[in-house]
Amino acid sequence: MAEKLIIFDTTLRDGEQAPGASLTAQQKLEIAFQLEKLGVDVIEAGFPIASPGDFKAVAEISKNIKKSAICGLARCLKQDIEAAASSLKNAKHPRLHLFLATSKIHLEYKFKKAEDEILILARQAVKLARRLCDDIEFSPEDATRSERSFLFRVIEAAIEEGAKTINIPDTVGYSYPQEVFSLISDIKASVPNINKAVIAIHCHDDLGMAVANSLSAVLAGARQVHCTINGIGERAGNASLEEIVMAIKTRKDVFSNFYLDINTKEIYRTSRLVSNLTNFVVPPNKAIVGRNAFAHESGIHQDAVLKNKTTYEIMNPHDVGISDSRLIMGKHSGRHAFRDRLKALGFHLDDDQLNKAFIRFKEVADKKKEVFDDDLRILVEDELRVSKPLWQLGSFEVTSGTAIKPKAEVELIKKGKKVSGVSSGDGPVDACFKAIDKITGFKAKLEDFHLEAVTSGKDALGQVGLKLKIGDAIFSGRGASTDIIEAAIRAYLDAANRAGDK
Ligand code: KIV
Ligand code: ZN
Repeated sequence: MAEKLIIFDTTLRDGEQAPGASLTAQQKLEIAFQLEKLGVDVIEAGFPIASPGDFKAVAEISKNIKKSAICGLARCLKQDIEAAASSLKNAKHPRLHLFLATSKIHLEYKFKKAEDEILILARQAVKLARRLCDDIEFSPEDATRSERSFLFRVIEAAIEEGAKTINIPDTVGYSYPQEVFSLISDIKASVPNINKAVIAIHCHDDLGMAVANSLSAVLAGARQVHCTINGIGERAGNASLEEIVMAIKTRKDVFSNFYLDINTKEIYRTSRLVSNLTNFVVPPNKAIVGRNAFAHESGIHQDAVLKNKTTYEIMNPHDVGISDSRLIMGKHSGRHAFRDRLKALGFHLDDDQLNKAFIRFKEVADKKKEVFDDDLRILVEDELRVSKPLWQLGSFEVTSGTAIKPKAEVELIKKGKKVSGVSSGDGPVDACFKAIDKITGFKAKLEDFHLEAVTSGKDALGQVGLKLKIGDAIFSGRGASTDIIEAAIRAYLDAANRAGDK
């Protein structure tokens, strides 16, 4: 009999810990709806004690999501546990996730506590949590760098106190597949009550082995995998959900004993939504969801694929929700065709959003002969990203050249009123950014800037992604246009609006 593999998605908790990826409670709810559609078993919705915003997000998601279990994270502290339990009170399937480090490095430098004190803390926390929530998951943080005999004692104690899932985190992404396999095997062999709990695995990608390590853990006996959409997360990120799921589906020969309840056709849509709302661009060569994941460049490959796809394709792009329709729209396409195409791409817009997106589409179609699916996707995502932006682009004018100092005048619309700023700068983009700073009053520092063409051709849409440091916080932004200065301004405003939202 095939065994179920539980997919525990932590995009909204560990994923959101990626620098610059912060989400509002509303955006988290939107992603949670999509994760439920994707079929994930558990949604880790946040760390409720961390901020009022996180508490609100977990509470809202708990109220609205009925199929997936909703999980809130807590340290082994009374106030954390009570906050998590309270944020989960309306969840149909609540889960409380406790973590406590067990490695020598953490005990010595983070806690300054002895092993026995940690053991007591773990016991007390699970006992308290168990009184407030039936479903407890316990993580010995930095498990892969912990001394095994102590790790086994902590796991045994957590299960004795009522933890139903024991998660093994490779917190700093230090392990490798054989080592993870032996650790999970040792836990199964050495923890006397381990058969009363599900073993989970949680891997980070610091050495690029998060997915391989997670799959290795499954082969050794883990039955729950922690992962995030597009692999976003602390530092180098977490194991990517789409890679784990498609590896298991594609290598049925290796994973024949397992089944998943994931609707893989929702993978691409979920990836786009998360990328759009977090502003984390998916690299073109990213496995499964990158733009080039199913593209064949060399003539030899193209020829072979035309004869038989399986020569160079191990997965069918349709299985992850990528359609090969390249339906082209142009300036004569009407509102109906536009709405139908967006529906087919998975966007469900209200009338106001549709009107705004249609206006943007017409502007672009006037400049660009053919508007491809990828162009449409970027335009609509651009319109939807911030629901009520404080500042919107009105117009801009730039003068630049080899013999003059670049100068820009930018006009923004704030609550229906026009406001403008003028500045010179090192280049035309810099001048625009400085003009915007004069309007917003932010002292923003540009930390990252990149530009890419969305589709091919001289009239391609350019998409700019950037990061701004405002005070101590990082805000990311994205914008697209056939004019790269306009794309840069839109990206800058996107980030500024996120800062204004805080
Ligand atoms: O990486 C980690 O150790 C974590 C724990 C909270 C599970 O994210
Ligand atoms: Zn983590």
